[in-house]
Amino acid sequence: MTTTESSSELAAAFTDVDTPYLLGQYEPVHDERHDVALEVTGELPAGLRGAYLRNGSNPFFPPPGRYHVFDGDGMLHGIYLDGEGGVEYRNRWIDSRGLRYEQSVGHSVYGGLNEFSMPSAEAIEAGGMYKNTANTNIIRHAGRHLALMEGAHPTEVTPELATVGEYDFDGALHGAMTAHPRWDAATGELLFFGYSPFPPYLRYHVADRSGALVRSTDISIGRSVMMHDFVTTESAAVFFDLPALFDGESLMNGGTAIRWQPETGARIGVMPRDGEGTDTVWIDVEPFYVFHFLNAHDEDGRIVVTGCRSEAMPTAFGDDSPPEDHVRPYLWRWEIDPVAGTVTDRQLDDRTGDFPRINDSYNGVAHRYGAHAHTRHWGQEGVEFDGVIWFDLDKGTSSEHVYGPTSVCGEAVFAADPDGSSEDDGWLINIVTDLAEGTSSFVVLDARDVSAGPVAEVRLPRRVPFGFHGNWLPTLD
Ligand SMILES: [Fe+2]
Repeated sequence: MTTTESSSELAAAFTDVDTPYLLGQYEPVHDERHDVALEVTGELPAGLRGAYLRNGSNPFFPPPGRYHVFDGDGMLHGIYLDGEGGVEYRNRWIDSRGLRYEQSVGHSVYGGLNEFSMPSAEAIEAGGMYKNTANTNIIRHAGRHLALMEGAHPTEVTPELATVGEYDFDGALHGAMTAHPRWDAATGELLFFGYSPFPPYLRYHVADRSGALVRSTDISIGRSVMMHDFVTTESAAVFFDLPALFDGESLMNGGTAIRWQPETGARIGVMPRDGEGTDTVWIDVEPFYVFHFLNAHDEDGRIVVTGCRSEAMPTAFGDDSPPEDHVRPYLWRWEIDPVAGTVTDRQLDDRTGDFPRINDSYNGVAHRYGAHAHTRHWGQEGVEFDGVIWFDLDKGTSSEHVYGPTSVCGEAVFAADPDGSSEDDGWLINIVTDLAEGTSSFVVLDARDVSAGPVAEVRLPRRVPFGFHGNWLPTLD
């Protein structure tokens, strides 16, 4: 952090801020800490040896205009476990070029998705046209830690969360990188895409197990959509072209950047993994929206996709948002036949939920289990997740755990048991915040017995605001 502001001065600057996305579970924190020897309740499994890193939106300065939760500066929280009961906590802002410029002038400059404003020439020169907050996800591939935000290049950080700088795969990456790459456990490849408001709008990339970007191909979808996630199988990469459209004119006039326009239609595209963008088969479907997919796999020439589907885009980017009951996501399954050009779909569960995760070793192949968040409240002004639902998709059953009546949580991440052999041998880890107490804990559930409740809890030294995505990074011996 390169600033002269103290944490108390920063906190004071937020005193009069009353946007819902900066209050309650979303309220930012204003300092960077490193704490060791944290208090543990229960017994941390010995196999849980490594780091849980989680990213999120935590504005350094109060925003200059209408704020959306996707806009804030990235902040990484790290929980480090030595496998012998020792736990450390660390948090760091993403030290982006845009934030450094704002720190140099002492206030926020960059607008966001709800209210963009063209920065000054000086700001653009120093920090870019918009801020690469790198606030959405944090992954490790080929030994490199990358913080991701879908509108820009990755930002490399150290395992201790210090910002190294933007990373473009040694000059090979042209355009942005999604915050939701897919890892192929069999090949060690990282499969991802980037989208853009400008033609060709969509580009698919493959980084090999050494981290080298070895393949890129353009997919001309003819329009600019907000594509947050995709899925891959052993045979295909699957893109959902859904009608959350960038509105450049609105953006440049200080309006919302993205509009839900179902009248423009929706399609699912299947591109052979070994093909080019021009080989993509597109199938028209009725409009819906998906922020996050659980997984996909090949089955008898068809592609089976599971994700969290809502009738409309479930996040407000302006005054023309869809009704609230249209934006709740539910676990859904699509079966795509790219030869016949057909898609069938069905709802798998009737409980609202998002943040779907699997045992990542099963990405792209047939899988039995998956989690998504249990939801206490879903509204346009915010969402409250309070637990985990663990699905056995083969049996059509589920088990769940709710953390507590005044607690909220984030995405449960599956941490595989290094001594395990079954898909569900591992733990579901999460950061849980008690809103009544203003405290946060790192909570461990055994995926083999979710409803039994936590096997261990680590009291964190501070409240951790609601965040987006993270990953469990086991120690590599
Ligand atoms: Fe996401």
